[in-house]
Amino acid sequence: ALEDFDVTGNGFLPQDQPLNVLPDSYYEPWERLAKDLPLLLQEQTLRSRVDRLPVLSINHLKTEAEWRRAYVVLGFLTHGYVWGGDKAAEILPPSISVPLLAVSNHLSIPPVATYAAVNLWNFRSSSSDFSDLDSLTALHTYTGTPDESWFYMVSVAMESLGGRALIPLLLSSLQSCSAKNSPSLISSLSEITARINEVGVLLDRMDEHCDPSVFYHRIRPFLAGSKNMASAGLPRGVFYDEGNGKGEWRQLRGGSNGQSSMIQLMDVVLGVEHKVTGDSNPDRPGHGDGGKEMSFHQEVRAYMPEGHRRFLAHVEERWPGGLRRGVEGLLEGTAREEERIGLREAFKAATDALAGFRNRHLRIVTRYIVIPSRQGGVGQGKATKLNLATASSKLAKTEEKEGSVNAELTGTGGTALLPFLKQSRDETFRAGELRR
Ligand code: HEM
Ligand code: ALA
Repeated sequence: ALEDFDVTGNGFLPQDQPLNVLPDSYYEPWERLAKDLPLLLQEQTLRSRVDRLPVLSINHLKTEAEWRRAYVVLGFLTHGYVWGGDKAAEILPPSISVPLLAVSNHLSIPPVATYAAVNLWNFRSSSSDFSDLDSLTALHTYTGTPDESWFYMVSVAMESLGGRALIPLLLSSLQSCSAKNSPSLISSLSEITARINEVGVLLDRMDEHCDPSVFYHRIRPFLAGSKNMASAGLPRGVFYDEGNGKGEWRQLRGGSNGQSSMIQLMDVVLGVEHKVTGDSNPDRPGHGDGGKEMSFHQEVRAYMPEGHRRFLAHVEERWPGGLRRGVEGLLEGTAREEERIGLREAFKAATDALAGFRNRHLRIVTRYIVIPSRQGGVGQGKATKLNLATASSKLAKTEEKEGSVNAELTGTGGTALLPFLKQSRDETFRAGELRR
């Protein structure tokens, strides 16, 4: 059953709106900082406030919704602390580290502002339909801008639409495939194609209220993690200080929708294979366990809520190779020529729709990252100093590696963004090219 994987009627979003405050007043000191975050960051007083904050116990958290709320609050405070000054802070003090590590251990999700922290568990809606973008607002932002709220809420609306319309379809298409029911599979595939396109329409609404230069200069710097962030001032990552001489350096990826289980579910069901990107990890080649490199998509599964990660693994195990392999099997066993053509075409249309989605996304990345990074203005004050892409392109100019500045931009999730995103798109197109 889907509930066993924390998949709800809203897909990977919670069934009900997330808590907007921890009920026990014991947590008031956290809540106050989270509420005032944009102001404290603007005044550059967050760090001193956090330094004076007592180390609160996690013993007053009761329900899962409360644990998630604590994770959201502490995730925002973490990135606010790390990126909220002229230089990145390399040491995260015990008042955040200690409870954050406990909360992330409980939820089995890394101690960093993941997609779950800023998107899935960080919204309020005035409608019961969470795909109604205009009814959504972010509970927390770093900047207090409508642009930042909108940036997060586009994802929430997409998750909701995908959750209700796509997940059941994707699962039933796998079942039709197992049952060797080509007509039903063909019709599911064409519905999948239509739904993916609808999700893409939501993506294209980004610029209604999120201005590229506000995004690039003000919002984005706070989303970065501590992995591949040497050029932004974190060569060793962040030291999570647990007090009493305890603590450790960690390098964790910042948030990106690459951590969305929805998009990865589409990949798994269709049978898109993502490989290791040669240069996705400029600082530390050969990461991953036991020297075996993991693809970005595989690696960020660990950044998804535990149930969702299990869900993807479950679907993969039950239907290895996804519809791609299934359709290839069906093609071999189907005598009727027109049915084979229909299957091929329907499958190709679905993978093309997902690749088209990735193309829309690339256009957004061009407008929101690549172009603003060229308009650069290195050294024009605080926002610029904090700016990852500017830091990276500065690096690029000194290194002049491939003669292309773009190739050197780093995403908040720590990838060499353009080569990585283009590879992901091409892998999606490739999935649609079935064996003859
Ligand atoms: C990954 C930028 C919004 C879906 C990435 C990456 C960047 C990026 C730079 C590479 C990973 C990294 O950070 O290192 C942006 C920008 C956005 C935006 C600038 C808006 C202003 C979205 C939205 C979605 C999305 C709303 C919707 C689901 C993805 C996916 C990946 C990704 C799925 C992983 C790569 C893939 O599977 O193709 N994004 N993103 N992005 N983004 Fe976005
Ligand atoms: N991952 C996105 C970026 O790099 C948010 O800006």
